[in-house]
This record gives sequence, structure tokens and C-alpha cells, in this order.
Amino acid sequence: MDNLARDILSVNEDIAGRHATVAGGADGAPEMIWGSPEMSAVLDLVGKVACRPATVLLMGETGTGKSMLAHVIHRDSPRRARPFIAQNCGALPEALCESELFGYRRGAFSGAVQDRQGLFEAVDGGTIFLDEVSELSPAMQVKLLQVLQDGSFRRVGDTKNRRVDVRVISATNKDLAAEVDAGRFRADLYYRLNVVPILIPPLRARREDIPALARHFLEKHRERLNPLIDGIAPEAMRTLCAYDYPGNVRELENLIERSLVMSPGTALAIGMALGMEPRVMGHHTREPTPARVGSPFPPTTAPPPGAVVPLRRPRRCGAGAYAALGTGVGPGN
Ligand SMILES: Nc1ncnc2c1ncn2[C@@H]1O[C@H](COP(=O)(O)OP(=O)(O)OP(=O)(O)O)[C@@H](O)[C@H]1O
Ligand SMILES: [Mg+2]
Repeated sequence: MDNLARDILSVNEDIAGRHATVAGGADGAPEMIWGSPEMSAVLDLVGKVACRPATVLLMGETGTGKSMLAHVIHRDSPRRARPFIAQNCGALPEALCESELFGYRRGAFSGAVQDRQGLFEAVDGGTIFLDEVSELSPAMQVKLLQVLQDGSFRRVGDTKNRRVDVRVISATNKDLAAEVDAGRFRADLYYRLNVVPILIPPLRARREDIPALARHFLEKHRERLNPLIDGIAPEAMRTLCAYDYPGNVRELENLIERSLVMSPGTALAIGMALGMEPRVMGHHTREPTPARVGSPFPPTTAPPPGAVVPLRRPRRCGAGAYAALGTGVGPGN
């Protein structure tokens, strides 16, 4: 093996082995990929809360992985054999929201021809994920507060109180405290939801995740979109690592897919695909960070521009990934 090939492989080993970790996947749960200390800290906390029945509030910009983490928390909790239901509170018209979440009694409104249970009953014993929780109307905020306080609620049009045992995970990409200050969100509900807050940093604040994620998305989509692509050149990786991703991980995945479609050769070409980002006007990119020891960025000295770093699978830690992080907490707790 010549020096260049050895350098390429060792760069790749470094990225794929030391800096990339994978959790989940085997049981159909989402596969988390990360390589940064920032995400390790987040997942450390996730591992700790998963096994305890605490209410969790996930906060972070769009595309940072809040929905994915909600799923991971359920999967690693003792409730994993019970249902997990996600409901986007912003997607429900106010009139439908109450009957969707809490059910209704026959005759409660025209069209209510039979009793119907809502999501809270359907998920009893499991986890409900309330996405965009800041969008709940004031009336729904009151009902949610009640069910969080003692597990009780009433179906629409019913007089009977019912009880459920449901773990609530909620998420928002708004500043919920500011919503409280502005009078749009109840302070008492905020404190009930915010028992364990987990803030997921934007991708630009954890750039060490980018190489592992980029490889993961390349592997995920290359077969379907462009099987000729067999790696990401160091130049392209540096470009990927230097971009700011206002749409976070979702935007990175889109960018990889678009690059696969547009690449002419066997190496992933990022430039043209990145140029098609509406927001790339020089505001969201920065000079690539110089390579340092242990950096996920390929060293500038090793492979020449255009060299292809062959694909390798990141190390797979499966569902026991948290143990590897030293929390001692993991599935089975
Ligand atoms: N660490 C990760 N590893 C692998 N895929 C990820 C990771 N983080 C996010 N993704 C993927 O990125 C996309 C966006 O993630 P997700 O939907 O969980 O973000 P979100 O924070 O809930 O966004 P929104 O606020 O818009 O609902 C999904 O396709 C998800 O699978
Ligand atoms: Mg989401």
C-alpha cells in the first residue's frame, strides 16, 4: 500500500471509528449518528432520562433531531413495548385538537355517532410525543396541564373523569420561556413540561458530527440515486464541514441527496449542489477550520484535492451505545 492510500485509510479510520457512533436501527427505531462531544453530552442525558418517568422538553432549531430523540427516549425506556405516538400540535386545527388528543362521547357534536378514544387513551402505558407544543391553544394548554398533574382528563362531551399513565415528551423550536413572557404560553404548563429540558445544539455548533452524518447519508442514498459514487473527497468533506446548515441535519441530508444526483464522476461533488441552496449567499459559510490533532476534518497534507476517501461503515454500538458513553444507563433499565 502506498503512503497516500495509507493516509486516506487512516483518515477514514479516524473519522469512521473514533468519531462516529451509531445507536439504534436494528429494531426499526431511528439510527442516531454522531461524533461530537456536544452530542455525546446530549445522549448521556437522554440515557439518564430514558429509564425514568420524567417529562422531557426537547428544544432545538428545526432539523436538529428532536423527533428522532423522542423516539430514542421511548425505545430505551421501560415503556418500549407500549405504544409511541407523535402528534404535531401545530398541524391540528383548534376544533379537532381536543377530540384527537382526548377523544369524545357519542353525540358530543354533530357527526360524533359513537364514542371514540383519543390519543392519550390509545397510548396508555406508553409515550406521547407532542411536537410544536408552543402551538397549543390556551384551552388545550389547560387540558394538558391537568393530565400532566394527575393523569386525569375527560373526553369531549363526557362527564366522567378518566385516568391514564402516559409519559409526555414535548418539543419546540421556539423559545418557550419567551412565549411565557409574551403571555402566549401558560407558565404553570411550561414548568410541568420542562422537568428535564434537553437542548440539542445546531449542527454548526457540533461540526464534528458532519463527517459521520455525511457518510451515513451517502451510504443511505447512493444505491438509489448514484451507485457510481464511492466516497467523499477531502476537499468536498471540508466544504461540507464549513457550511453553517440553517436547516441542520435535515439540510445536510438534502444536500447529500442533491449532490448524488448532480455529481458527474465517482466522487461526491458538493459545490454545485451547495450553490443551489437558496440561503448560500456567503452568509452561512465560513473558512474551513484548520485541521488539528483528532479533528474529523481530513488533514490538508495527506490526500491531494480530488482524492476519494473510500466508504467505511461507522462503528456500530447498537442499542447499548449509552453504556459506551459511560452513563451505565441503557436499555433494560
Ligand atoms: N443524529 C442524527 N443521526 C441521523 N439522522 C439524523 C440525526 N439527527 C437528525 N437526523 C435526521 O434529520 C432529519 C431531521 O430530524 P428530526 O425530524 O428529528 O428534526 P426535528 O428537530 O424534529 O425537526 P423539526 O423541528 O423540523 O420537527 C430526520 O430525517 C432525521 O432522521
Ligand atoms: Mg420534529
